[in-house]
Amino acid sequence: MITTVGDLDRQLRRREADERLARTPAKYLVMSGKGGVGKTTVCVNLALAKAAAGARVGILDVDFHGPDVAGALFLSARVEADDRDRPIPVRAAENLHVLTVQHLLSDPDEAVMWRGPRKTRAVEQFVTNAAWPELDCFLVDSPPGTGDEALSAFKHVPGLQALLVTSGHSLSLADAAKAASFLKSAAAPLAGVVESMSSLVCPRCGGESPLCPEGAVEEFAAKRGVPLLARLPWDLEAQRLSESLKKPILEAAPESLLARRFRELAGRL
Ligand SMILES: Nc1ncnc2c1ncn2[C@@H]1O[C@H](COP(=O)(O)OP(=O)(O)OP(=O)(O)O)[C@@H](O)[C@H]1O
Ligand SMILES: [Mg+2]
Repeated sequence: MITTVGDLDRQLRRREADERLARTPAKYLVMSGKGGVGKTTVCVNLALAKAAAGARVGILDVDFHGPDVAGALFLSARVEADDRDRPIPVRAAENLHVLTVQHLLSDPDEAVMWRGPRKTRAVEQFVTNAAWPELDCFLVDSPPGTGDEALSAFKHVPGLQALLVTSGHSLSLADAAKAASFLKSAAAPLAGVVESMSSLVCPRCGGESPLCPEGAVEEFAAKRGVPLLARLPWDLEAQRLSESLKKPILEAAPESLLARRFRELAGRL
């Protein structure tokens, strides 16, 4: 029920966002059970691969306590507002738009100390009240686990599907199993699994050695009836180049095995 002008404005923005999102065919939440498995790296490089292939891509960072999307893109910027006072996602590349709380902080080291309801509201506002352009692909980077951020993203982004990132280590798979059962309980679709740290690329010879029991992640995905979308190697040289050139892996080491796998992943989504 609409009782105030504020309510009306909120409903109009919600409807605008729903219509815009309905025109965006690919919408993925990059999630994991365990932390530090490479979600942000997957999100950013997948976005760059999609954008390089001509798609209009948006990244929404809902990892409020560890907003790494800006750092992974080596993009420092400040969010501006449009004439309707809506935050304008920062343009990271020709076809790539990014909205992260990191770009709203006056001090880059400042910690965001929000409890659940504040985070839930922030996700809603970032989705419905930001000046997103027309997009072909909308990626949401999330913190590890199954908390408020993932729940709110599924609530406020109609048609959102999960990409579950895990390594083949038993602890990572155990936490990924919880993430998969969370998705089932939340009636949220799982598009597929991305295996991280599947192998080590030797920085000297470029050879690939397995790091985890082969087939464990494939079995995990098969048990849930979803595809294993990519197997991403741990690539020390690509990461070293990324750090030293201050560019994401796809741009710093475009010919690396890891960059090739990111492009293959982009082609499958
Ligand atoms: N395939 C890879 N090869 C080499 N280094 C990688 C690879 N994937 C990720 N890294 C590095 O590992 C670290 C953790 O990756 P990342 O931040 O993407 O993980 P995350 O899952 O997003 O972490 P969090 O749970 O804290 O959000 C980063 O320093 C990143 O550069
Ligand atoms: Mg991250």
